[in-house]
This record gives sequence, C-alpha cells and structure tokens, in this order.
Amino acid sequence: MTAGNKIVIMCPPQYYQIEYEINPWMKTTNKINKKLVYRQYQTLKHIYQKLNLQIFEIEPQKHLPDMVFTANYGSFHKDKFIVSRFKYPQRQEEAEYAKIFIKQLGYEIIDLPTDAVFEGQGDLIATEEQIFCGYGFRTNRKAIKYLEKIYNKPIIGLKLKDPYYYHLDTCFSLLKKDTTMINKQAFTKESLNKIKNQFKKVIITNDQDNKSLACNNLIVNNTIIISADISSNLTNQLKLLKFKVIKVKMTEYLKGGGSIKCISLVS
Ligand code: ARG
Repeated sequence: MTAGNKIVIMCPPQYYQIEYEINPWMKTTNKINKKLVYRQYQTLKHIYQKLNLQIFEIEPQKHLPDMVFTANYGSFHKDKFIVSRFKYPQRQEEAEYAKIFIKQLGYEIIDLPTDAVFEGQGDLIATEEQIFCGYGFRTNRKAIKYLEKIYNKPIIGLKLKDPYYYHLDTCFSLLKKDTTMINKQAFTKESLNKIKNQFKKVIITNDQDNKSLACNNLIVNNTIIISADISSNLTNQLKLLKFKVIKVKMTEYLKGGGSIKCISLVS
C-alpha cells in the first residue's frame, strides 16, 4: 500500500497477546515475546519517522489485545473515516476507541448500517483510480454496497478462499499503477481473473513469501517496507521494479495473523 505526506496510526503492543483464536495463525499457547514485539514495533516506527510519516499512537486497552492491528479500525475517505464493524465480538469494542481517537484528529466519523461487517483497511484497498475490497471471511458484501455509495465509485470485490489469508491485505499488494503482487492461492478463480484484468503485471508470491505475509507491506514513495523473511527471488523482483527494500522482522505479529500493514492505519 502507498503512503506519503500521510499520517499513520499505530498502537503500542503493551497488552498485545494471543488470548483467543479468530484466525488460523493464532494459537493461545504461542505467547508473545514482550521484549521482541516492542523491538519490532519501535523499529517500524523509526523507519516511518525517517520517511517523514507523522505517527499518532492510540492508547492500548488491556482487554483488547488485537488493538495493535490498527488497519482494521476502518478506512479513510477524504476528510471522513468509515469506522469498522468487526466480525468477532472480541474485537468489536476497538471501533469505539478508534472513533474517539480519529474524531479528535479532525475526521468526520461515518458509521455503516448494522448489517454490514467491515474490517477497514484490512479488506479495503483504495487508490485514486481503483478500489478493491476482499470478502468471504470478514467484510461482507453488504458492506461493499454501502461503501460504494460513500466512495461514489464501483468497488472491485475479491472473494477470498483460504482461511490463512482472511483479509485482502494479507494476500494482495498494489506495487505500482499497473503492477500488483498477490498470493494466488488465496483467491477464487473469478477473483483471480478480475485481478488479471486490472493489471499489466501480476507478481505471484511463493510459499516462503506467503508464510511471512509479504503482501502485508507498506510503500512510501519508492521505498517498500516488507517482512525480513521474504524470498530472495521476491527481493530481486522488487529491486527490478526500482524499489528501495527495507526489511523488518515481524515474527511476533505473525503469531496474531498480521504484519507491517496490519499495524499501520494510514490516512
Ligand atoms: N488477530 C487479528 C484478527 O484476526 C489480526 C488482524 C490482522 N490485520 C490485518 N489488517 N490483516 O483480526
């Protein structure tokens, strides 16, 4: 995903822990190493600061361990913030904290009707030209209909089929206007065709890249911040596209089923 002259909302991992299992990466027996997760968080934060992104940190809440995954709070549209309606009760209260915090930053808060399920930038990936939205596990199709009205544009719905890649941002990454990168196994045939129709070049990630959530990266101008554990093949392809590649270890966040982009809500 692309960022530049933008704000990033992050949540310190003070209370981040695997306390329930709502995706197949999460195992309550697989505890978070506190020291390590702080190091990973700080490293990413410093990279963002060096790239001149403005960071706002929301106060973590003890009873909301997944609050670190700020990308799921909602999505921005101009001066509006469309707040999520989380699928699982364990995360629903996060939206209330997000609303208060983001309103105070000056955004108008938009609530979706109660029959929508929407998990923010986890599923909605928007550029100036196109808007994609994943569905099948979290965000539902009703939400896509409502979002089309708000964005006043058609949204390309992409159906996800692999429970490990339950949000669009775990398996789809826009690299350039005409180039995307995807984990092919995460999509239905129909969705794959839709993707192929939209882009000149589609980079297919391999198993190693998928296990490290390579698609869950963040792009700022020509720099890509990506998992340290991606394949050398993908690294080379990114360099050929003229990206400066910055690699970050994200092992503790992978235990919760997320990585770089999941912990960065970008305006
Ligand atoms: N444990 C979180 C969940 O299952 C991880 C969310 C990852 N976020 C993302 N944008 N993919 O909801």
